[in-house]
Amino acid sequence: MVKIAPSILAADPLNLERDTRRMEEAGCDWLHVDVMDAHFVPNLAYTPDIVRRLRQAVSVPLDVHLMMDHPETLLDAFLDAGADILTVHAEAEVPLEGIIRRIHERNVKAGIAVKPRTDPEIIRELMPQADLILTMTVEPGFGGQKLDEHVPAKMRKLREMGYRGWIEADGGIDESNLPHLIDCGLDVAVMGTALFREKDPAALIRRLHGLGEP
Ligand code: DX5
Ligand code: ZN
Repeated sequence: MVKIAPSILAADPLNLERDTRRMEEAGCDWLHVDVMDAHFVPNLAYTPDIVRRLRQAVSVPLDVHLMMDHPETLLDAFLDAGADILTVHAEAEVPLEGIIRRIHERNVKAGIAVKPRTDPEIIRELMPQADLILTMTVEPGFGGQKLDEHVPAKMRKLREMGYRGWIEADGGIDESNLPHLIDCGLDVAVMGTALFREKDPAALIRRLHGLGEP
């Protein structure tokens, strides 16, 4: 069954506790926290302290996506804050091997993210260490964009390359395009706009969980 991970980027920043509790009550599987450094992406979002407080507010796993050129600078802070999955970008300015090892040393799941135009060949070596591969379906930085139609083929390619871990996608996902992503090998759907604008998120999540099921 596909996992649904609401992206808090689309929540009301002045009512984060209300909105995240609402998504948990609606049956979401994870909560996706988009961390941005205003350098790797032209936007700034969320601190380790927000993750620490979210950890106290909800019980679903916190799926933290570090859109940072230097994720090593705040890795311990996000690990200490209670991230359950910590994902770093293959395009960051630092090698990922050591970062993934540090994440695993803390018994946290490690993810590798690739932007829409990045060839997954660049992460072939690291794939065996990745619990999750995040194939961004939009250029990272902002919610509310249109899904990049080239990316589903990249998910199929990852499976053909022998990847058997979680494949996650993030950006522009809604009820109409999710079935095709599932066909291409998706396990986890990050959804911001489509979920937070929904008046009955529980009904939507129930329908989404039913997609791809026999
Ligand atoms: C991009 C962000 C978005 C957000 C979800 O960096 O990561 O992908 O989480 O976007 P929407 O609102 O399109 O679901
Ligand atoms: Zn994200």
